[in-house]
Amino acid sequence: MEKIRVYGGQRVDGRVQISGAKNAALPLLAAAILSEDGLTLKNIPPLSDISTMMLLLETLGVECSRSDVDDYSMTVDCETNSLSNFTAPYEIVKKMRASILVLGPLLTRYGHCSVSLPGGCAIGVRPIDLHLKGLEAMGAQIDLKDGYVYAEAKSGLHGAEFEFPVSTVTGTENLLMAAVLANGDTVLRNAAREPEIVDLANCLNKMGARIEGQGTSEIRIVGVSGLHHTEYSVLVDRIEAGTYAIAAAITKGQVDLIGGDFRKLLPTFIEKMEECSLIFEDIPNGLRAKYAGEIRPIDFQTAPFPNFPTDLQAQTMALLCLSSGRSLIDEKIWENRFMHVAELSRMGAKISISGSRATVEGVDHLVGAPVMATDLRASFSLVLAGLAAQGDTVVDRVYHLNRGYCCAEKKLADCGVRVDRIK
Ligand code: EPZ
Repeated sequence: MEKIRVYGGQRVDGRVQISGAKNAALPLLAAAILSEDGLTLKNIPPLSDISTMMLLLETLGVECSRSDVDDYSMTVDCETNSLSNFTAPYEIVKKMRASILVLGPLLTRYGHCSVSLPGGCAIGVRPIDLHLKGLEAMGAQIDLKDGYVYAEAKSGLHGAEFEFPVSTVTGTENLLMAAVLANGDTVLRNAAREPEIVDLANCLNKMGARIEGQGTSEIRIVGVSGLHHTEYSVLVDRIEAGTYAIAAAITKGQVDLIGGDFRKLLPTFIEKMEECSLIFEDIPNGLRAKYAGEIRPIDFQTAPFPNFPTDLQAQTMALLCLSSGRSLIDEKIWENRFMHVAELSRMGAKISISGSRATVEGVDHLVGAPVMATDLRASFSLVLAGLAAQGDTVVDRVYHLNRGYCCAEKKLADCGVRVDRIK
């Protein structure tokens, strides 16, 4: 299994081109199913999760061809005139839960499909009940059998009013994609407001959909009879940007994050980092993050956008391990997203957990150790801790990192920092 060796005591100083967002690209690829004549997506990050989604689309009969623009970005052309298969098989869905995003598009365009139930994963149980309830409200008949969701809407879906009891990102995306081809009007209340949802809605509108209210908690969709080819460039990855900002803070360095309006994409994170350890300066097409001279303890809780993103919790925790006091973290989204705590503790961190809360007592230094990545974001939190530690750290199970961080060692090298992959 591939590992990464991180040499301790390095300082980040440089410029990082932030890639397209994985969590925007995945629903956009699924949206290709809705088009009568294909979809061209630019700024797609070359990541293993993207390859998994392309494999799933190909299994359904979408022809995907990729052309690499550079190391950090590719263009994907999807040919979708008609599909030949309407089953998303377990073998693919088990690799990536976001596979559930084909459910809404397949059902609304073809009136039937089956998608393997994703099951839980390292960060929590991850139910999809709200995706299914929303589709039922739009007239779908749903059966759960043999580990699969069988969905049918013989005469098509109809518009509906649906209120999400909790905010769900992929749930909102699935219902949004289902509603664009439904008969009549749909209103989604308490919809998720993440920028990746706005990106999806903007692309669907370019394809001919009629969506309003994206980015607010009420999204209104007027169903249309068909969607068409367009070319769309994927939103920049705010989580990757936040991760490299933390790399600057934890190594007492500086980084220019290039490629987007990160103040708008990460409002609460930036506020908290200013309280903790970073100064931000606007630069052309990006934001500079500069170490402010100390790492102060902070308290925060993760919550849906625009609040502090759960996908930056593990990386921020690594930083707080080296703060000058006690920090409190409340993980409100995922019930089991503290798997990195045991690994950080192996490096000398002092963290205690009680339910959804972690108390982090800052220590003077961390020490390099062999550690194991437990999920995507946890994997980079260990790289960050390793960069600041005394001695070397070897991070095992790097396949987690490959799912969501494009060219990590190259981008770190662009900041003057060396890590090595060990095959
Ligand atoms: C998306 O997952 C992201 N994945 C996750 O990114 C991210 O952590 C998460 O949103 C929260 O921001 C993609 O966009 C592909 P949710 P998603 O449905 O959509 C509960 C990463 O590291 N819920 O918003 O699966 C659920 O249990 C990852 O890139 C229900 O109860 O998350 C959770 O507590 C991992 N019923 C909360 O809602 C449902 O039907 C939010 O989950 C659906 C969700």
